[in-house]
Amino acid sequence: MADHDEHIIWHAHLVTRAGREARHGHKGAVLWFTGLSGSGKSTVAGALEQALHQRGVSTYLLDGDNVRHGLCRDLGFSDSDRKENIRRVGEVAKLMVDAGLIVLTAFISPHREERQMVRTMLGVECFIEVYVDTPLAICESRDPKGLYKKARSGELKNFTGIDSIYEAPLAPEIHLDGQQLVTILTLQLLDLLHKHDIIS
Ligand code: PPS
Repeated sequence: MADHDEHIIWHAHLVTRAGREARHGHKGAVLWFTGLSGSGKSTVAGALEQALHQRGVSTYLLDGDNVRHGLCRDLGFSDSDRKENIRRVGEVAKLMVDAGLIVLTAFISPHREERQMVRTMLGVECFIEVYVDTPLAICESRDPKGLYKKARSGELKNFTGIDSIYEAPLAPEIHLDGQQLVTILTLQLLDLLHKHDIIS
C-alpha cells in the first residue's frame, strides 16, 4: 500500500454496474482460462467469445501475448513478474466486469496463489476458473510458436512446464479436456454460463 492511500477515497458513480448489466442484458463475469502454453486457452477462449458475440453478449478477451505488448510490456517470466502480470490483468478484468462485460482471460497463470488472488479480487460469484488440461507432451508436440523447442535447447529460460512450474487447479469451476474439439468445449462453457445464471 502506498502511504497516500488514506487520502484516496472511492467515488461511487451515478451509473452503476447493475444499470450497465441491465443495459447489456446479462451479468458481468470473468472466465479465467489457465493452462500450459499451447494447451488451447486462447483458441477456446476465442471460440467462446465468438459464440457469445453472435448471441449479442458484450465480451472482451484479454490474452497473454497481446497484453504483454502493452500494459505488461515491462514484465518478463520470473515468478515475481508473472505475479505482477496476473495482478494487473485481474485489476483490468475487475474494471471490465464493473462495465458489465463478460471477460475472458487467457493467461498461463501458473501459480495457485495468484489465481486465488484474482478470485478474491473479483469476488467468487463472478469468477469462473477454466482449466484447459492438455498434457505437456501434447502441448510440446503442438509447439505452435517453436518455444518448447527453444526451451528444451536452453535458448529460452523459465519456460512453463520445462524449467518453470505449473500448478494445476485443484477445484476449478470447469475442467476441460484440451484434446477435445473446440466446438464441444465451447458448448460446455456456454452450458456453464447458463447454469451460473450469467447468460439466459
Ligand atoms: S503468465 O505466466 O501467466 O504470466 O504468462 P502469459 O502472460 O500468459 O504469457 C504466456 C505467453 O508468453 C509466451 N512465452 C512464455 N510462456 C511461458 N514461459 C515463458 N518463459 C515464456 N516466454 C514467452 C508464450 O507464447 C505464452 O503464450 P501461450 O498462449 O500461453 O502459448
